[in-house]
Amino acid sequence: MSEIETQSLTEKKLFELDARNEACLAGGGPERVAKHKEGGRLTARERLAVLLDPGSFIELDKFVTHKCTNFGMDKTHIDGDGIVTGYGRINGKLVCVYSQDFTVYGGSMSRTQANKILKVMELAMKNGVPMIGLNDSGGARIQEGVAALGGYADIFLQNTLASGVIPQISAIMGPCAGGAVYSPALTDFTFMVKDTSYMFVTGPDVIKSVTHEEVTKEELGGASTHSQKSGVAHFATDSDKHCLLMIRELLNFLPSNNVDDVPVIQTSDRPDRIDESLNTLIPDSPKKPYNMLDLITTVVDEGYFLEVHKNYAQNIIVGFARFNGRTVGIVANQPQVLAGCLNIESSVKGARFIRFCDAFNIPLVTFEDVPGFLPGTDQEWNGIITHGAKLLYAYCEATVPKITVVTRKAYGGAYDVMSSKHIRGDINLAYPTAEIAVMGAEGAVNIIFRNQLKAVDDPESKRKELIEEYEREFNNPYVAASLGYIDEVIEPALTRKRIIDSLEMLKNKKDTNPPKKHGNIPL
Ligand code: HXC
Repeated sequence: MSEIETQSLTEKKLFELDARNEACLAGGGPERVAKHKEGGRLTARERLAVLLDPGSFIELDKFVTHKCTNFGMDKTHIDGDGIVTGYGRINGKLVCVYSQDFTVYGGSMSRTQANKILKVMELAMKNGVPMIGLNDSGGARIQEGVAALGGYADIFLQNTLASGVIPQISAIMGPCAGGAVYSPALTDFTFMVKDTSYMFVTGPDVIKSVTHEEVTKEELGGASTHSQKSGVAHFATDSDKHCLLMIRELLNFLPSNNVDDVPVIQTSDRPDRIDESLNTLIPDSPKKPYNMLDLITTVVDEGYFLEVHKNYAQNIIVGFARFNGRTVGIVANQPQVLAGCLNIESSVKGARFIRFCDAFNIPLVTFEDVPGFLPGTDQEWNGIITHGAKLLYAYCEATVPKITVVTRKAYGGAYDVMSSKHIRGDINLAYPTAEIAVMGAEGAVNIIFRNQLKAVDDPESKRKELIEEYEREFNNPYVAASLGYIDEVIEPALTRKRIIDSLEMLKNKKDTNPPKKHGNIPL
């Protein structure tokens, strides 16, 4: 008698379960899997194994198959239908996930695939856990037509409803074209893998036939393009593994949902650590730049700063760090790029980050050194008024604890915008080097003393004298401090300690906005 004939019924059923589970692991078969892995890419399941804590992944809907009968599809069914969905843990924290399997029908989005995503998204929403999507797909399953498009639209709706309720993270790990790009675009953070992923609404062939432009897929929508030029991607990573480890890193900073507290971790960095090097970080000349990242990494816990949108609109810096173990969102002007001026891109970048932090109760720490909005027809004609207002709106609307440190320039409208006291900044600190004024001394003197300067014999020496006088009178933190717009002028060495004191004091801050359906941010 063969081994199977001697098995009990239960044993046979367990054997069948094992066999079925085993079959699922094959994806689209050894040849397609081998082709997929040629460029160093991982399979859908290998990706989840790197993303999640070992052994924590629980797969759902493994045996689900598509229901399409068009074009002979009724004769081919692959368990799971080109997507792996379920839940697992990242450093112990529960997350819901999906991972598209390019080896099965090119990972294309079928009605069934959409249903699997929607089911796991619903679980994420009901249980208040982050949702992570690993995208690798040829787009809508062509054989299914509008049923697949409907699936996409159902996901877009759920992405929108989940926005601000649970963190949503997208990784693009292969193709992502056409309307498929809009699910990642609706989520909070998009990661891309250099050289193996691309995103575009219309591809190079269509572009060539319509506009006669010639462009490669990589130039049009690769990770470098989207992390530097368009800002569509928040992180450009070197490989599948790097991408997945970066997602883990980001997750460690985030609360699980909009009513959760920010995560707190153990740190050996003392809260009262004083750093004398900060007393000389700001150059004597207001025209000389310095690297704001040096300030950030000096004051945050263990110098650890996870920069978001690192290569895009570098005149503003945004990212996550910790003070005394607790997550904060950092927004800072970068004097090294465009002298730290605010422009269209940096306003939008800052606004989106601030709104994420506010939605998820993450306190905001702002380091300010801004000479104003970038002048020029390019900026005006492309709508710096509307786009700059986004940053202003985001800061005004935010009710999380807001701490501002003015290191040097806080001029004009940009002074108001960058988390000033007037727009509900909770604690506003300034260095003795701060210059809080309507504009720089030279510009101010040229305007208010224009006629007087025309009338004197030696206008240059008079101009110099007036500039010095203006600097003495106005380019300092003390006028603002005398009005209570600055709470304290601090020695820079004390920055970390003061920020932590402030965060501690604001730990139970409660502030609300008037009840409304939603505001109308200037889009
Ligand atoms: C069904 C698809 C598919 C799709 C790929 N496949 N895309 N099956 N629907 N959309 C299948 C292929 O037939 C092939 O099956 C397998 O996946 C691998 O595809 P290849 O072409 O061999 O791979 P590769 O050479 O790497 O090219 C990848 C690709 C290409 C660039 C993504 O497959 C492609 O151009 N696909 C079509 C893309 C597209 O136009 N999608 C619709 C976009 S519009 P076999 O059996 O041979 O292995 C859209 C609208 C969304 O998505 C709207 C939302 C609102």
